[in-house]
This record gives sequence, C-alpha cells and structure tokens, in this order.
Amino acid sequence: MTTEQTLDINHQDPKLDELLFKLINSPEGRSNPYPIYNELLHIAPVFKSTMGSYVLLKYDDCQKVLRDNRFGKAENTPEERKQRAELIGLTQQEIDEASQFFESRGSMLFVNPPDHTRLRSLVSRAFTPKTVDRMRDHVKTMTDDLLDNLDGEVDIMEQLAWVLPATVISELIGVPFDQREIFRPLVRSATMLLEPVLSRDDFLAGLNASKTMTEILTQLLDERRKNPRDDLMSSLIEVKDGSDRLSERELIATCQLLYAAGFETTTNLIGNGLFALLSHPDQLELLKSNPELTVGAVEELLRYDSPVQFDGRTALLDADINGQQVDQGAMVFTILGAANHDFRHFHNPEVLDITRDEGPPLSFASGIHYCLGNSLARMEGQVVLRRLLDTFNVIELIDQNPERRNSITLRGIKQLRVNLKR
Ligand code: HEM
Repeated sequence: MTTEQTLDINHQDPKLDELLFKLINSPEGRSNPYPIYNELLHIAPVFKSTMGSYVLLKYDDCQKVLRDNRFGKAENTPEERKQRAELIGLTQQEIDEASQFFESRGSMLFVNPPDHTRLRSLVSRAFTPKTVDRMRDHVKTMTDDLLDNLDGEVDIMEQLAWVLPATVISELIGVPFDQREIFRPLVRSATMLLEPVLSRDDFLAGLNASKTMTEILTQLLDERRKNPRDDLMSSLIEVKDGSDRLSERELIATCQLLYAAGFETTTNLIGNGLFALLSHPDQLELLKSNPELTVGAVEELLRYDSPVQFDGRTALLDADINGQQVDQGAMVFTILGAANHDFRHFHNPEVLDITRDEGPPLSFASGIHYCLGNSLARMEGQVVLRRLLDTFNVIELIDQNPERRNSITLRGIKQLRVNLKR
C-alpha cells in the first residue's frame, strides 16, 4: 500500500485520467468538482496523467511547487504552440494569428524573472494593504449606493457582484465607467483562455475578445497620454515614456491584466461566498451578529469555494517534487480548489466554519505570482458582506441550486437570485 512518504509522482492509471477528464471537461465536474477532488485526494493526491502532466491536489505539494523557482510560466517554442493549436483544430491562418497573440501576452502573469520582477514592481505600490485600506471608506460608499437600489427579488450577480469590482478597478486604472459594459463580455470570453481544455470556438472567441480589449485600451492610453490624470494608466504611461523599464506592448498587457483580474475573480468571490453563507444559515446568523468575524469569514469563503480553482507551472529546468525527478518542460497542475479541501491540512474541509483558524487558503496561489490584488479582493469581499448583512434584515435564496458557469479555472455562478427585505 502507498504511504504518504512514498506517494509516487509517476503513478499512472487510466481511471485517474478518467476522473481528471470528468473534472475539467464535463458539465458535472465543472459545476461541482468537490466530490472528484475528494476521491482523488484519497486515492491519488499526486499522479501523472497519460498526457504527461503531473497533477497535484495536496495543499503542501501545491504550495511547494508554486514557491519553487525551478517551476515557472511556460516559455513555449513556436513549434510547441503550433502543436497545441493543431490539437484544438485551428487552420494555418488561425494558428498564425494565435501565435501573434501569444507573443503579445507580455504581462507579469505569463512571464518569469527578471521580466516578472520588473513588471510587478511597477504597479505593486498601488495594491499594498496600506494603499488598499485607504480605499475602504470609498468602497463602502460605492457599495451603499448600489444597495440603495436593491429590494425584493434581486439577481446578486447582475446587480452587485460584477458591478462593484468593475467600478473599483475601472476607477483605479482610469477606464471610464461607461466602458464597463463593453469590457464585461470581453473579459469573460478572454478568461476562457485560462481553461485547461478549450473548444475551438471558445479559443477563437477568447482570442477575438482579447484583441478587441487591446484595441480599446490602446485608444484609451492614447487619450490619457494627452490628458494625464491621477490613475494607474497615467502613471504607467509616465514610466513607459520616461524610461526603458516598460515597452508599449507591456504597458497595454499590464492594463489589460489588471482590469480583467480586478473584476472577474472578485465577482465570483462575492457570488460563491454569499451563496455558501446563505446555504448555511447558522454561519450566516453567526456573522450577522458578530461583525468582528468578517475578516475570518472572507478567508473561509475563499477556501470553501475558491473563485480560482486551477493553476499550473512548467518545470523550467530538471527539478523534483518531494525528491522525485521531474524533467525540464514537464507541466504541473496545481489544483488550488482541491488543496483548499485537503483533509491533511484542514480539519473537516467540507464544513463551512467562519471561525476556522488554520492559516490562509491557497486561493491566491503562492510564491512570486501570489495574487497582486489579494488585499483589494479581500477588502471588497469584507465590505460587501458586511454592508449586505447590516442593511438587510432578510436575505433568502430563491434558487437553492443556482447554475454554475461552464469553466473550472474560474469558478462562478451565473445567476444568484435572492429575496432582500430591509
Ligand atoms: C477573490 C479574488 C481573486 C482571486 C481568487 C485571485 C486569484 C489569483 C491567483 C490564484 C493568482 C496567481 C496566478 C498564478 O499563479 O499564475 C493571481 C494573480 C494575480 N492577480 Fe488575482 N485574484 C483575485 C483578485 C484580484 C484583484 C482584485 C486584482 C487586482 C487587479 C488581481 C490581480 C492579480 C494580478 C496582477 C496577478 C498576477 C500576479 C503575478 O503574476 O505576479 N487579482 N490572482
């Protein structure tokens, strides 16, 4: 029998591949991955898929790889990209267009040091806990303005969960508010490119959405160059034009990443988090009468149903996982949603307990790519929950089983219908 010490990372079994495939490529797995995580955490918390990728589900293993600089972002050769594109069934012309797109993904999320260090340091000051805390009162006011219009039957996703983070990040970057609705479907399509498996249609839609966002941001940056303001776009333009620390391509990619990362994930923190709370009335009541539990409650909601479930790295050189050899070029899936439900790390992980005190979840990943916006997302989550609970006497689910979005990397709810009474 395999013990914890001797878990073989090269363990292969077609049954495990079936489970992995069900997880990432079936409506059932995407809508509720937790039973599959649980099964894998028991039978094979680390294994090698027959496609050659390593799959990690344990908290400790995921954290170790994410913190290990021998693992990083894939630097695929044009030949490797071509092979992948052919796998999705793209034509030669589409492959050429896709290659140009991948060449232009110059944001910190997709690169390794030293470029990563340089790009991240240019914007990190705008996202420190201190800077974010200074925004708290303003975000409270924005939230209250939105809540003023809500009463009776409401779709939280439509009327609160996307619009608040989108407004906050628009203001921070300097994207005019009237562009939020234009960006909304584009961001949704573009983030499908983060899925581990993708249909040809979703790939092409994601590619087009990404190109359109690039065009809009290029125009906005041109305008901002003529009329600088007190926002991130203006300060990045100053860096770009005044030094050689940022290229034009990186400037656009950075704005695009910050904008997309800033609202799609936090939308799902609000949606998944509120749904989890409303499905556990005892926890809801506990939080309602104990405001001091709000910070911990958001941590637990991030753990319980994480907005980002999948992450991954590539071995940049020959490396090892727990002393076992991993060849350069190997891909490693780090399943954050499973790590957050690892019974070796969290006591009774299936239980929602807002007083849990077992350290942070892996929802923001770890290591050098640890979410830059974590303080902002946490603050927005805390403010929204608190204002909702303090404003409404009754918050009831209308639909006990809301439909999930058909994606696994970003996990979210399509519609969250609730009844609100003051
Ligand atoms: C609950 C909400 C959020 C979750 C769960 C989340 C999750 C994550 C995760 C897992 C990563 C690491 C990706 C990787 O390892 O490759 C990441 C990176 C990142 N996140 Fe977030 N995020 C959230 C909100 C935000 C917000 C509000 C922003 C604000 C702009 C943001 C900006 C970023 C950026 C810029 C990166 C790339 C960091 C780097 O590569 O160094 N995120 N996020």
